Amino acid sequence: MAPKNVPADRLTARSGDERWFTNEHPALRRCWHPVARSEDVADGPVGVELLGERWCVVRLDGVLAAFPDRCPHRFTPLSAGRIVDGTLECGYHGYRFDATGRCVEIPAIGPTAPIPSRASCRPAHGAIDHLGLVWLALDEPLVGLPHVPEHDDPTFVNCPLPVLDWNASAAQMADNFLDQGHFPYLHLATFGALDDRIVPDYRIDRDGWRFEVRHTHTTKALADSHGAGEEFALVDRHDLFVFTPPHHVYLRIEYRAENAVLTISFCHQPVNATTTRLYCTDYRNDIADTVEARQGAVDFQLAVAVEDQALLERMHRKGVPLDPTAEIHTKADRITLEMRRVLADLAAAVAAAVAVAAGATGTARSDR
Ligand SMILES: [Fe+2]
Repeated sequence: MAPKNVPADRLTARSGDERWFTNEHPALRRCWHPVARSEDVADGPVGVELLGERWCVVRLDGVLAAFPDRCPHRFTPLSAGRIVDGTLECGYHGYRFDATGRCVEIPAIGPTAPIPSRASCRPAHGAIDHLGLVWLALDEPLVGLPHVPEHDDPTFVNCPLPVLDWNASAAQMADNFLDQGHFPYLHLATFGALDDRIVPDYRIDRDGWRFEVRHTHTTKALADSHGAGEEFALVDRHDLFVFTPPHHVYLRIEYRAENAVLTISFCHQPVNATTTRLYCTDYRNDIADTVEARQGAVDFQLAVAVEDQALLERMHRKGVPLDPTAEIHTKADRITLEMRRVLADLAAAVAAAVAVAAGATGTARSDR
């Protein structure tokens, strides 16, 4: 724990500083993360970066698998290989691996020579398609996958934004997408309204690792939010935020005056210490399922995202402090403070699990 009353800028975010939740925090190995769009992992292996590590994602006979992007033989990227007869073949010497990572062939030694066990790859603990994305858990996850009911609801039109890479940490981005108080300032040109400056009290419902918040804002009407028109109607929008650690934000917005619902799913890939890939999808029940209507929804969401990105990329530390005394929190910030509590709890749970495992290993050693 950091000393009390130390200003945030006196706290370092150096690599390995677990007082800050960065894109390389060790707790993230025990969580699910999106790493690609499902449709982009099809005919061959795909190289991705997660938590500063390179991984190879591939479908072998319909089974999604992920291996470190490094052939055990000469450390060649496996993502430079190809799929042959339901196996992943390294492009350098033709080593072949099945979906479990077991090396099943080394062509240069012939079909009868034994294959060394060290020639196999250790796969990621989990790889799954969810919400149109490929998700990985490098080690056994403590937290389940996020829920977005609208994804499979035929009354909603799915409007995925292009994949976006931001020079920010995933925790900072989730913090921003949960934030209740920045709409009338950062987003005044798109949907924010100055009448929304006071953040009323709201309740936080925590359930395990997740929490929910319901809240009402005054913003521009959805139909008026697309541009900087002089005339616009102010309406109440009723928000439901759901945070699923480490970084997923679900936001369901009801514009009751317009009989419209806009749900936004913010999925974050912590690529490395300085970059986060954002997979953002709008789900709309008020537009036709046409190319033009979807593009209009995407253009609006992109205009909002650009406002957030421009500010977040100027943050000089790429992380969120877990020490609650490092920043100032008021009653208007309870939702983002709760996110920090959840992340701190997650970090503590993983640290405790690591300590137990280390103790078990030590006990096993002393028993020998
Ligand atoms: Fe924002």
